[in-house]
Amino acid sequence: MSQLAPQIERNEYVEFWNDILVPKFVRWRHILVDGLTHHSAKVFPRLDVKPGDRVVDVGCGFGDTAIELARRVGPSGSVLGVDCCDAFLEYGRNDAAKAGVPNVEFVEADVQTYPFRPEFDFCFARFGTQFFENPVAALRNMRTSLKPGGTMTMIVWRDIADNPWLGLPKSIITDFLPQPGDDARSCGPGPFSMADSGVVAKQLEIAGYERVEFERIDAPLLVGRDPDEAVEFQLAIGPAGEVFREAGELAQQRREDIVAALKRELSRHETPEGIVLGSSSWMVTGKNPE
Ligand SMILES: C[S@@+](CC[C@H](N)C(=O)[O-])C[C@H]1O[C@@H](n2cnc3c(N)ncnc32)[C@H](O)[C@@H]1O
Repeated sequence: MSQLAPQIERNEYVEFWNDILVPKFVRWRHILVDGLTHHSAKVFPRLDVKPGDRVVDVGCGFGDTAIELARRVGPSGSVLGVDCCDAFLEYGRNDAAKAGVPNVEFVEADVQTYPFRPEFDFCFARFGTQFFENPVAALRNMRTSLKPGGTMTMIVWRDIADNPWLGLPKSIITDFLPQPGDDARSCGPGPFSMADSGVVAKQLEIAGYERVEFERIDAPLLVGRDPDEAVEFQLAIGPAGEVFREAGELAQQRREDIVAALKRELSRHETPEGIVLGSSSWMVTGKNPE
């Protein structure tokens, strides 16, 4: 493939992903990838992707969707996975090699500024677009990757109220700890920054997309194989994890009570598979004009 990785310039969010979130995501990879797959599994059969297509998967993380898309486009097509954390991409490269999928390449880059050429039929993002500093500029940059008439599909979380897998633990932990301050380090606007379909429709319109459509995807999500694992996961990742991390010493002092409260509430959602809570996303599709 002809794309070259430009030297990545790290803004504060990209730094945060690399410094803080990479180790946590690697530790919790089994929960995250399996959980997020519930959403893409519902979306994949409907994607506008054909054998021979060229596809870009932005914010591709560990690369599992990029590999699945590479299988789908077959040997006459190809996939480029782009992420700002090379540590994630190494998993994708290894998994693709192990699976014998040669038509996928992974490039470390900031999707907001990567100099795409209009060579892709399809641009995909599973939960990778909610962290952009300037969503309109980034969505516009994604559109520059598309051929005329090409399709972009992104999956983004709906509101926290529709996502108890993240909302419930946050509501419990904020009984014990303060909300993070405005100066808290963060991964960007955050997982719910694209929950409002009206706002996102406008962003996409300004970014130059046509025929924008939203479809709600609901799926159960495993947050731990047992209550202890679910508590540990929540203290590490997501809005509850952010509250816990930002509270510093206070969080350590209250840890025992927080763990007990989380365990009590999360145990109510125990199934034979593990702790399962509801989650809800938007499948958002837009077209690059012909
Ligand atoms: C919630 S993860 C989703 C990863 C993957 N798509 C999945 O579904 O498993 C968000 C991903 O977006 C990446 N990311 C965040 N901001 C980015 C940026 N500006 N450019 C490229 N990747 C970015 C992160 O490194 C992370 O891998």
